[in-house]
Amino acid sequence: MQFDIRKFDIYRKVPKDLTQPTKAGAVVSIVSVAFILYLFLAEFFTFLSPELVSEVYVDDPVKSYDSIPVYLNISLTKMPCRFVGLDIQDNMGRHEVGFIENSNKRDILDGHGCNFETRFQINKVSGNFHVSTHASEAQPDAPNFEHILHELRFGSKAAPALLQAYGQVTSFAPLNGKNATSTNDFEMHDYYLKIVPSIVEYKGQRSLPFQFTALYRSLPSFHGGGAMPAIWFRYELAPIVVKYKERSVPFYHFLTQICAIVGGTFTVAGIIDSMIFTASEIVKKVELGKLT
Ligand SMILES: *[C@@H]1O[C@H](CO)[C@@H](O)[C@H](O)[C@H]1NC(C)=O
Ligand SMILES: *[C@@H]1O[C@H](CO)[C@@H](O)[C@H](O)[C@H]1NC(C)=O
Repeated sequence: MQFDIRKFDIYRKVPKDLTQPTKAGAVVSIVSVAFILYLFLAEFFTFLSPELVSEVYVDDPVKSYDSIPVYLNISLTKMPCRFVGLDIQDNMGRHEVGFIENSNKRDILDGHGCNFETRFQINKVSGNFHVSTHASEAQPDAPNFEHILHELRFGSKAAPALLQAYGQVTSFAPLNGKNATSTNDFEMHDYYLKIVPSIVEYKGQRSLPFQFTALYRSLPSFHGGGAMPAIWFRYELAPIVVKYKERSVPFYHFLTQICAIVGGTFTVAGIIDSMIFTASEIVKKVELGKLT
């Protein structure tokens, strides 16, 4: 006896001359093909365009980085450069007065003002840095710390482009362009910053920018009391990390969706078609019964 592989065919064919096309069947077929096409295209575009996902978790920031780079570009409009310096203090016992490495001072407004640009590192603990005259030998008679904060940034600059491309709401530079005017001399300027470490993973690269929120207030300082005015930046680190990355649909997932769409649509269309066919047969029989 010869082995016949055709026994395994679960799709047995009905000879074509035993089937008959119907108008309703044609309509159902066209509608289901259009439906499949629509769903296929929708799935296909979802597959092509990755989405941005973010997650937040509590983390020990120490694992990801050693210290935080800070970039500051500020213009003091009523303070000559020779008085200006930067002091850094933190809860780990750091206290540097008149920090000068990686700093640039440029006279502006005919020497009445100063553009001060500096880069430094802060530790991963709470602390503050302030622009002051503390390190200068001669002190100005009526110090006025009115300023324009061009840029204050923590960590790397490159990452946010990805987040902007996705229209993500972020807070990497909330103070840039801040114009803090003082009509009174001896005024204190205080910024309270809460820094939120962020991780951006994009095209196999990882960057660690820092977002922050800022609260500003200015208050009069009592010049008899010995405290000289300054621009204070007091910062705290949030114990959470926000992670952003792109996620794309895996190819097998896309294939599964396509099979589900095609199979599901044909099955449902087949049920609808046979219902229409059965109903029309009944109607025909009833009409024949009435006529005879
Ligand atoms: C600091 O900001 C000012 C004003 O935007 C700009 O003119 C200057 O070039 C900046 N400094 C640097 C080193 O980018
Ligand atoms: C800052 O504000 C003062 C007072 O409102 C204004 O005169 C000055 O032009 C402003 N400076 C900038 C750079 O916007």
